[in-house]
Amino acid sequence: MKIIGINIVIGCALIFSGCRVSKPGAMESEMAKDVKHKITVGGKNTPNPIAATPENIKDGQEHFGHHCGICHGLDGEATGVPFAQKMSPPIPSLSSSDVQEYKDGQLKWIIENGINPSGMPSWKGILTDDEMWKIVDFMRHLPHNEKTKMGLSEPIAYGAIIMAMDPKGGPKPRDVLNQFMGSTDLGAKLTVAGSYYQTKKAEAGAVMQLQADPAKLPKCDAADACGWECAVNKELKVPTNVGEFVKWCIVPSLQ
Ligand code: HEC
Repeated sequence: MKIIGINIVIGCALIFSGCRVSKPGAMESEMAKDVKHKITVGGKNTPNPIAATPENIKDGQEHFGHHCGICHGLDGEATGVPFAQKMSPPIPSLSSSDVQEYKDGQLKWIIENGINPSGMPSWKGILTDDEMWKIVDFMRHLPHNEKTKMGLSEPIAYGAIIMAMDPKGGPKPRDVLNQFMGSTDLGAKLTVAGSYYQTKKAEAGAVMQLQADPAKLPKCDAADACGWECAVNKELKVPTNVGEFVKWCIVPSLQ
């Protein structure tokens, strides 16, 4: 649960700072991109001291999953990240040429310094230099398969992030989330289910209807540091659809 704790803090920073920055026009963003690539982002001439061996890439993938996946998805494409498209600035695809054109040293610089003013945080003091370089190695080897990269921890983390948001007079996070209960967007629906993890039994009536939901869960496997299994009465269960996820992983967690 420690990871989820960290993610909550980061997620709020994203959602709040993300809201304040207005979307730039096409020309403005073209200019901003150029300035970023040529001037703002340093590290162009710093070589990557960590070789892209399979072990280092795998280490990088794990760090990426813990620290970056909450916004960029486990695949760098923001797959399964709810509302990624509605954020301003939007979450970029890390396999896009815009991002891949950066030198290794620049990608490390972005991780270390973040991008202001946007939702991209700085990881100075949180990740070591070696960890950042390994993440760069992983970003050069992003998964390119058909799988949707969303596992058990994502909807639970996203749900917790949204529930922890301070509406400042706006609609309650619970009411906003529940609107997505019947959504055809699987990511959104799973986030609603995940938001009930460890909530009070008395307040969890609405999620019960999802126990009969036959929608198939996104595929993901251990090789992608991703899975759906959860322990029920010390017995490991692997749900394959939304209903089983709710019945086996959410309902037993209710307090
Ligand atoms: C809280 C959400 C969030 C987290 C966590 C996050 N990012 Fe980002 N990231 C963003 C946003 C938003 C942008 C778009 C920034 C912009 O275009 O100004 C971005 C942009 C980027 C870019 C592209 C920058 C560019 O100039 O095009 C890279 C590379 C990147 N992130 C890598 C990472 C890595 C690696 C991690 C983990 C160590 C990470 N991000 C964690 C939100 C996040």
